[in-house]
Amino acid sequence: MKIEVDFQPIGKHVEIDSGTTILEAAQEAGVGISAICGGAGSCGACRVRLDDQEHVSKPNETEIKVLDSDDLASGIRLACQTEIYGPTRVDVPPESMTATQRTQVEGEEISFEFESPIKILDLTLTKAEAIDLQADFERLSAAVLTNNGSTLHCRRMNVLKQIPGLLRGNKWKIQVGLRGDELVSVSAPGTPLLGMAVDIGTTKVAGYLVDMASGKTLALKGIMNPQIAYGEDVMARITYSLMHENGSDVLQKAIIHALNELAVDLCALAGAGDDTDAPVYLPTQIVESVMVGNTAMHHLLLGLPVEQLGLSPYVAAVSSPLDVKADEIDLAFSPGATVHLLANIAGFVGADHLSMLLATDTHKKKGVVISLDIGTNTEITLVAHGRMIACSTASGPAFEGAHIHDGMRAADGAIERVQIVDNKLAFQTIGHTAPVGICGSGILDAIAQLKLCGAMNEKGALDVKHPLVRKGEKLPEVLLAAAAITGNGHDIVLTRSDINEIQLAKGAMRAGIELLLDAAGVTAADVDEFIIAGAFGSYISVEAAVGIGMFPDIPIDRFRQVGNAAGIGAKQALLSTTRRAEAAGIADRVEYLELTVSEQFQAQFLKALYM
Ligand code: FES
Repeated sequence: MKIEVDFQPIGKHVEIDSGTTILEAAQEAGVGISAICGGAGSCGACRVRLDDQEHVSKPNETEIKVLDSDDLASGIRLACQTEIYGPTRVDVPPESMTATQRTQVEGEEISFEFESPIKILDLTLTKAEAIDLQADFERLSAAVLTNNGSTLHCRRMNVLKQIPGLLRGNKWKIQVGLRGDELVSVSAPGTPLLGMAVDIGTTKVAGYLVDMASGKTLALKGIMNPQIAYGEDVMARITYSLMHENGSDVLQKAIIHALNELAVDLCALAGAGDDTDAPVYLPTQIVESVMVGNTAMHHLLLGLPVEQLGLSPYVAAVSSPLDVKADEIDLAFSPGATVHLLANIAGFVGADHLSMLLATDTHKKKGVVISLDIGTNTEITLVAHGRMIACSTASGPAFEGAHIHDGMRAADGAIERVQIVDNKLAFQTIGHTAPVGICGSGILDAIAQLKLCGAMNEKGALDVKHPLVRKGEKLPEVLLAAAAITGNGHDIVLTRSDINEIQLAKGAMRAGIELLLDAAGVTAADVDEFIIAGAFGSYISVEAAVGIGMFPDIPIDRFRQVGNAAGIGAKQALLSTTRRAEAAGIADRVEYLELTVSEQFQAQFLKALYM
């Protein structure tokens, strides 16, 4: 017998089998509950509230370990551990939701020449008659040879199938899309041919719809990566695919479904407006796509094995650029559409970083330049004396608000800015709503400000004598917002353990920067430009990051926050064959520095823990 589960305040219902966990039910219902550890019961991110626990399992040992007695008394449970045996209503607090996060789609654009990989031809063929019985495809091939000098190939039966109807329905006029000699699309004259560039992040996905005839961007949109429901970071997803039968298939289907929906949304956005004569845009008009992501996202998209990415020496299944037919991975684009995937640099430095280097022209820089993209893994490239050296550091999910007492993603109600003046603390929340937690940029600000006002020392210890510091349950803490003004009726605090989490994250990043500088024989003082990409990197205060030693202490005007450069790079590779070739050249040129085997890493890391 099926059991009804009601998710609030989202208002989604789902029918499930008895014994299903709340997290599994949420995944089935499409409710995005954070699951950083992939359901292992260790992260505590999947907290939900149950007012009535009559039809669910009793708290197990894992829950008793992760949740405190106050949590349990107020009905808080871990969604991944709680099994449902009868009709249940589940309240998902905003800090446990994944679906409302601020996503970053825009990025700094540079000019480049539009050189579409798709050639569009409008042809008029001679009508078939009793005295001219040439078959339709051969008739079209002859016209292409005359007009374009190329010998036509068609790799998709579903493209071929459209030709007879189109010719007869449009008085023997037809528009063709060519990718080199390959016929990738046939359509009625005037039909817009589209391209879609996508940056598949571990957390967020940014999509861009472009007109392949003009190079114009028609629409852009950011969504959450639905794979979050199966594990928040790369390792958790690899673990999920290892531990579950068909785990990789489940993850692949989740991202493909999201990409197909994103294509529909982008087309709707592009066609929105008052102009009734405006063209109609459909995903089936997408003839070319460029997708970038870290190596694990790339492999999961293509259905490639990911097991080896989770084990030292972290080797990719393939690193070269790839052309894949969209229908091979169930993307509902034009039947002949191709998806181009930029090269991966190494196991943990993927095509998204390559794309960011392309978008920022890092490879063309003179002098000493650092380009980094902050995420659960931070990829860093240093350009110095003509060399490009890259590394990846495990900065962990703390900047995403995970493992932080009141941490949350950058969604409405998250404290994103903190200021302390005369020992008085002020903050700003995303959406200017009542605070319900604190996100990465807020945590960085808070720590930098606590250091400035003397409430925290360089080791990260809080001074209990300082007026802003109070005794916490176990260790000292700072009250950021009192229960009376918060949106969830709880105090929002920053604890000593939170500071420790940030120390570990920023320590790893800074150690990576220092080791790259060492490898190139330069110092931080030599750095002419420091480029910060990615959503988190766009919202942080650079002063705060320098203040806590996350970035080297160089003049502030040498830092540049460029937004979603990976997405912009994907768009450039979509619209320019030259830029696409440049990307391949960067991948060949970058030297990869593996930090896990570096003897100096530990020493640099310990040094970098200081604030
Ligand atoms: S504790 Fe439930 S997903 Fe991590």
